[in-house]
Amino acid sequence: MKTLISTSVRAAVAAAFVAVAAPASASGEGSHIERQSWTFSGPFGQYDKQQLQRGFQVYKEVCSSCHSLHLIAFRNLAEPGALGYSEDQVKALAAQYTVQDGPNDDGDMFERSAKPSDHFPAPFPNKQAAMVANGGSYPPDLSLIAKARAVERGFPWFVIDAFTQYQEQGPDYIHALLNGYEDIPEDVEIPDGKYYNTSFLGGDAIGMPPPLFEDLVEYADGSPQTVEQYSQDVSAFLMWAAEPKLEERKKIGFRVMIFLLVFANLLYFTKKKIWRNIGH
Ligand code: HEC
Repeated sequence: MKTLISTSVRAAVAAAFVAVAAPASASGEGSHIERQSWTFSGPFGQYDKQQLQRGFQVYKEVCSSCHSLHLIAFRNLAEPGALGYSEDQVKALAAQYTVQDGPNDDGDMFERSAKPSDHFPAPFPNKQAAMVANGGSYPPDLSLIAKARAVERGFPWFVIDAFTQYQEQGPDYIHALLNGYEDIPEDVEIPDGKYYNTSFLGGDAIGMPPPLFEDLVEYADGSPQTVEQYSQDVSAFLMWAAEPKLEERKKIGFRVMIFLLVFANLLYFTKKKIWRNIGH
């Protein structure tokens, strides 16, 4: 009986170890996603407006030929906590695009130049057209991708992350993905029309050709024109697209903490006063 108990205790302990260790190895694909330092991390994080503008430039000149950004309207770029553009700049930017509108009084759709209230036009008319143009892979809309691709870190990391306020898994992943293209190793087979990427969550083979090269986008502010810099900037921009109110959220959060602290003190002294004359 004794041995039976001790064996089952040992089995239970072993099972607990496996349970703790398993998520760590299951998250193997994402385990080499390197953490980056972002200006918007931590309780006082804020977006670097220059970086967002550069990231937007990368999206506009490179990514937008395949990926839509349908939740973002031009006018969002000029909102508080956004890229710091003026309304005139946004008007001029919108005017560079044509969008479909209608129907007019004759029942026809027509094209006109975009207004700040329009959303970014998609590069393809529909999903099927996007897939045909990309060898059968669908380039997802990027509006929420920085939130949609949070790499699973497993136990105990998700608990630790809650305390350390690590919320940048999304931009870390996008950065790693854009830097994850490598030569195909001999023992790996990649189907035609796919590319080898060591960071892609969907496996080794990705349908997106490496989108970034050195000197592809010309920066006006003298920042390095490298894949590393481009991917940092565009990841930050996509984080803003997914969470435009991040700065406001963090500011309010801080005020709430101060309020709670003051309120807790008030409650403590009130309690002391009320119970002062009552003997223990
Ligand atoms: C030539 C077209 C093309 C360009 C340009 C392009 N992509 Fe993609 N992208 C794709 C396709 C196709 C997929 C889907 C890949 C798959 O599912 O295998 C994809 C997938 C993605 C994903 C999702 C990966 C995942 O985990 O599902 C992200 C993020 C992404 N692209 C970001 C970007 C960024 C940022 C840029 C600009 C720097 C960019 N892409 C430029 C075609 C493109």
